[in-house]
Amino acid sequence: MLSQEDNALLTRVGPGTPMGTLMRQYWIPALLSSELPKPDCDPVRVMLLGEPLIAFRDSQGRVGLIQNHCPHRGASLFYGRNEEGGIRCVYHGWKFDVSGRCLDMPNEPPESDFKHKLRARAYPCVERGGVVWTYMGPRKDPPPLPDLEANQLPEGQYEVTAVMRECNWLQALEGDIDTSHAGFLHWGAIDPEEVEPDTFLRYAVENRAPRYAVVDTEYGAMYGAYRPAKPGYLYWRIAQFLFPFYTQPPEKVLGRRAGTRAWVPMDDTHTLYIGMFQTGIGHQSYRRHPLEGQYPPSYRMVRPEVLPNTTDWFGRFRMKDNAANDYGIDRAWQRTTSYTGIGGIFLEDQAVTESMGPIYDRSQEHLGTADVMIIRVRRRLLAAVRRLMQEGTVPPGVDQPEVYRVRSGGILLPEGADWIAATESLRQAYVEHPESTWARP
Ligand code: FES
Ligand SMILES: [Fe+2]
Repeated sequence: MLSQEDNALLTRVGPGTPMGTLMRQYWIPALLSSELPKPDCDPVRVMLLGEPLIAFRDSQGRVGLIQNHCPHRGASLFYGRNEEGGIRCVYHGWKFDVSGRCLDMPNEPPESDFKHKLRARAYPCVERGGVVWTYMGPRKDPPPLPDLEANQLPEGQYEVTAVMRECNWLQALEGDIDTSHAGFLHWGAIDPEEVEPDTFLRYAVENRAPRYAVVDTEYGAMYGAYRPAKPGYLYWRIAQFLFPFYTQPPEKVLGRRAGTRAWVPMDDTHTLYIGMFQTGIGHQSYRRHPLEGQYPPSYRMVRPEVLPNTTDWFGRFRMKDNAANDYGIDRAWQRTTSYTGIGGIFLEDQAVTESMGPIYDRSQEHLGTADVMIIRVRRRLLAAVRRLMQEGTVPPGVDQPEVYRVRSGGILLPEGADWIAATESLRQAYVEHPESTWARP
């Protein structure tokens, strides 16, 4: 449970709010490179941390993220002409480059030097791994980008996907650090007998009430959720929260390359999920490891459909099934082989987190022992935001890109093993672990 004050502190991200100020210390994944497919292409409306911005790719291919309202008299630069190295407002022709410099003010007399005195608010952008990153913070020289392995793969070896979720960023993120829901929401209708013995999935559906160990880390927090496995062993699911809004769920075998999921606040009630993965390990394109266990034949995998983007502020990466049609719930299916009747793991997560309301009032919740990671992450965020506000302390990870070099995943450890020491090297990114890749213990 959180007080309404703390709930507001964590969930509000607009300009000038404490959490918005914390997030602005970091580079932020703002949009996908593919949304701006070529030089001088159509601009895109991007709502980010409650600020309406216009993204454009100039004639040289550089990406700009500029204030929506033209600094002259406020016409939207979305309608601008994106041409010859800048975006030109169609109202009176003022033109701005990706850095916000005013290049032209054609309705002023030629001798006027007004254009040299004026700048549009524009945030620096960097493209990496299919993602356009932006820095909206106070520093003249931005900090380094976080060293996330999944965003640092060579061209052709990565996938990025995006989906908008219509709720606050924190309740979306909290679904990712709450492993016990998987045994119900996603796997609740799976009969353990249908799953191959001695696999992660079998252990997970045989015991749906794991115990948790949680630790603070330099980059945020880590949990290990454990339950009995084969005799003498525990099955550990180890997963990460990384400041300010990243997760690495324990989807794979620990030691394999992990994807990273970003829950980027568009505003207080809309969140852009950006998933960064190695090609072939994202979602359902993934070839399962023998240790993970196959879903039984009765388990219907559905790939939820994302609608084509519109130009609306909230028209990017919407799901076809949504609250308006109760996420396509199929009650007959729910009575038989699906726990939810809702198609696909991602859509199930979408449905429950959106159903909590746009910003859940956490003074109404009743947390149990399975919520220990959620409690820890909130505590970490609250402490960081208070230290930033009161003492100006830079929050975790901003100046330590290397702390983001981590992985997540599942592993069998002998009972009594020290889970942190035993997994230290397996949790390191950029390290090959052939022993954990396909071999069974
Ligand atoms: S409002 Fe943009 S040029 Fe006048
Ligand atoms: Fe889930």
